[in-house]
Amino acid sequence: MIETNHSRVTEFVFLGLSSSQELQPFLFVVFSTLYLAILLGNSLIILTVTSDSRLHTPMYFLLANLSFIDICVATFATPKMLWDFLAERKTISFAGCMFQIFCVHQFAGGEMVLLVAMAYDRYVAICKPLHYMTIMSRRVCIILVLISWGVGFIHTTSQLAFTVNLPFCGPNQVDSFFCDLPLVTKLACIDTYVVSLLIVADSGFLSLSSFLLLVVSYTVILITVRNRSSASMAKARSTLTAHITVVTLFFGPCIFIYVWPFSGYSVDKVLAVFYTIFTPILNPVIYTLRNKEMKAAMSKLKSRYLKSGQVSAVVRNFLLLEKK
Ligand SMILES: *[C@@H]1O[C@H](CO)[C@@H](O)[C@H](O)[C@H]1NC(C)=O
Repeated sequence: MIETNHSRVTEFVFLGLSSSQELQPFLFVVFSTLYLAILLGNSLIILTVTSDSRLHTPMYFLLANLSFIDICVATFATPKMLWDFLAERKTISFAGCMFQIFCVHQFAGGEMVLLVAMAYDRYVAICKPLHYMTIMSRRVCIILVLISWGVGFIHTTSQLAFTVNLPFCGPNQVDSFFCDLPLVTKLACIDTYVVSLLIVADSGFLSLSSFLLLVVSYTVILITVRNRSSASMAKARSTLTAHITVVTLFFGPCIFIYVWPFSGYSVDKVLAVFYTIFTPILNPVIYTLRNKEMKAAMSKLKSRYLKSGQVSAVVRNFLLLEKK
């Protein structure tokens, strides 16, 4: 690597979602509300699944894990973004920036694998119902969750290894609200063509292969469901619709950014909002509000906690709001 006599970049400056000064308070209110909804909605799913023994099944364990990853996805960047809406200068330290890159790929990579695990779970439940209990044992569930975190970790460290050693010597403006790879590698003082290619290969491989696995498993499930027509198949169909909606909304933006990373960067910024804010908020909505078992468990939880008065005022208001 060629040594430059420029000073090393110690911090990066975010250009943020919008350059308009008047819009900042408005965006602050909108995104604070969304972030609060993400925290409440996903915590409610975790609380419901862990407290109701009828929901102690692989599907709901995986759903609760998805909610946990959703909270992580929303939390590594959003509070900083909220803070930045009110700040004059939106800066982040070099280490903070690398940490955000680590997080986005750890959590998003983990979420992709978890979505595949959830599709596999539905595949076994619908196509091999007699063997469901033996195939999706508790041990297999835990292994699937560990694999999703493990794959996320390998994926993120392999990309970060290329990035931390890049020389950053001058430009430090990141045209987004958090550090992500295509935007940050672009700022390095050497030609990053090879590094970009490695990143595209790495992220592209993970997102495309997960996506293909999902397409294959949902296709097999849909073909199986089509040839049967009992009431349980109607339920299976509605679960599938929920899964396929989430998968499309999550993978659409990811594949767009990483498989075509040389697209316009302002488009990328909007898409980044999509997978850091909208997917985490949509998961509870899609998986929960259309699901009878979840709804029943939630109202049971509500009556139990409201009677004993154990739940904090915030959660109580949220539960009451939801009933309206
Ligand atoms: C995640 O899945 C594992 C394995 O099924 C389960 O034991 C654990 O409770 C789940 N985590 C959450 C937050 O629900």
